[in-house]
Amino acid sequence: IASCLVGSEMCIRDRNKKLKGKKILITAGGTREKIDPVRYITNASSGKMGLALADNAYRMGADVTLVSTFKADKPYKNIVTETALEMEKAVKENLSGQDCVIMAAAVSDYRVENCAENKIKKQGGVLELKLVENPDILKSICKTPNKIICGFCAESENLLENAKAKIQKKGCDFLIANDISRKDIGFNTDENEVYIIDKSLNIKHIEKDTKENIAQRIL
Ligand code: CTP
Repeated sequence: IASCLVGSEMCIRDRNKKLKGKKILITAGGTREKIDPVRYITNASSGKMGLALADNAYRMGADVTLVSTFKADKPYKNIVTETALEMEKAVKENLSGQDCVIMAAAVSDYRVENCAENKIKKQGGVLELKLVENPDILKSICKTPNKIICGFCAESENLLENAKAKIQKKGCDFLIANDISRKDIGFNTDENEVYIIDKSLNIKHIEKDTKENIAQRIL
């Protein structure tokens, strides 16, 4: 067993390095879209699922690149991004040579068209923000050859129906679907319960477990 010291914690790399020689890029966290220098639009993603995937892929011997919306002090490559546009740039710049990409990040679908240069003053009444669509990172990379591309899908209703439509719309190889209407799993919790859907719409249910264990099953 190869062992390495990571900060103060001893990390033992798995004996069974099933991903040795593989390059894997994982995104994690919720992007933040600026309204002005101190305010932004974001979502409730904690980034725990993406981080669990990155940690487990590393333990399984993979060459990991984590593109996240938070700094991760880890023994693998970490690129910190804030907005969807920054995340898109980081993913595309690091795409070459990857065997697999897992988009676990909750990417904001919209950004504020004209982010204010100075803090917006209260003017009373209604404040209107104009939102424009962000690029769909997952969809745009799905045609890249020789890679397994996996997306995540957060749904609050009609989980499997929406997930099946989404994998066809996006064109990825796998989609991991989870039900965000449940308070005990998913966003901002330590546990998850997911369905893995493949291109042929085969579905595999992974029962409620820690995000660490779910990550291993996905990998
Ligand atoms: N995703 C992405 N770029 C976006 C939006 C989403 O790459 N601009 C990725 C996410 O990282 C995730 C997958 O697409 O892997 C599905 O995200 P989700 O929010 O469930 O789907 P949307 O495409 O945003 O569709 P909708 O919000 O309408 O359900």
